[in-house]
Amino acid sequence: MTFDEVPGWFMPIDQAAFSWILTHQNLTEPEGALVELGVFKGKSAILIGNFRRPGEVFTACDLFEDIATSEVADPGERRFFLSQSLTQLAFERCYLAFHADLPRIVRGASETVTRFVAPRTARFVHIDAGHTYDLVRRDLASARAMLRDTGVVAIADYRKPDTLGTAAAVWDAILNEGLKPILNTEFKLYATWGDPAPLQEVVRQGATEAGWCRVGDPVMIRGMPMLYLHRKPG
Ligand SMILES: C[S@@+](CC[C@H](N)C(=O)[O-])C[C@H]1O[C@@H](n2cnc3c(N)ncnc32)[C@H](O)[C@@H]1O
Repeated sequence: MTFDEVPGWFMPIDQAAFSWILTHQNLTEPEGALVELGVFKGKSAILIGNFRRPGEVFTACDLFEDIATSEVADPGERRFFLSQSLTQLAFERCYLAFHADLPRIVRGASETVTRFVAPRTARFVHIDAGHTYDLVRRDLASARAMLRDTGVVAIADYRKPDTLGTAAAVWDAILNEGLKPILNTEFKLYATWGDPAPLQEVVRQGATEAGWCRVGDPVMIRGMPMLYLHRKPG
């Protein structure tokens, strides 16, 4: 199985952004926890796992087939993911095609993750589980509790027409709860409760070196600069 053959929703622009941020953390920061809420068949988890250092724990949380009976799942998402034959075994098979060991799997609702990851120990949290306002609000609260000061949260689908609850939860956190934007792509928004400036420099440098993508002029939101990372046209 090649990485391109793993089913999922994880575009090259975000594969690049994850890689630059995680590489920067690996080079400059002590060990920390890695967390993904909503793994599906492992596409983004496999890439995060590439950056796990010895001694670090990567926690991968999903309802998997229990989405069929889970009361917390959004009914529309339940129908969709059941149609995708998602099982824990399918995730494990994909993950093990790229890694010798599985991550720590939390099979359950994303809101349970803080029982497993200690406060202020995480360096990177990817939120890509339930996409409703209430679920993303809760996942952002969990991310805030788990992340250390320099930690980064990436939130999927923050601007899709059919996931406005995610958009509302993200902007709520930015405008009212101290979350600071780092960058956005077409698909994900990256942010921190710490200082976004060093990470913005990492992204600028990554884009310059990569050549196929670029960072636009910063967009200012209440004095906070946000960078748009996108493919170069043509
Ligand atoms: C969009 S997919 C994740 C995609 C994956 N990150 C990738 O890159 O391919 C969303 C996943 O979240 C799971 N999910 C939905 N609601 C959840 C909840 N409340 N708690 C935990 N997992 C949930 C679904 O089972 C599904 O696997």
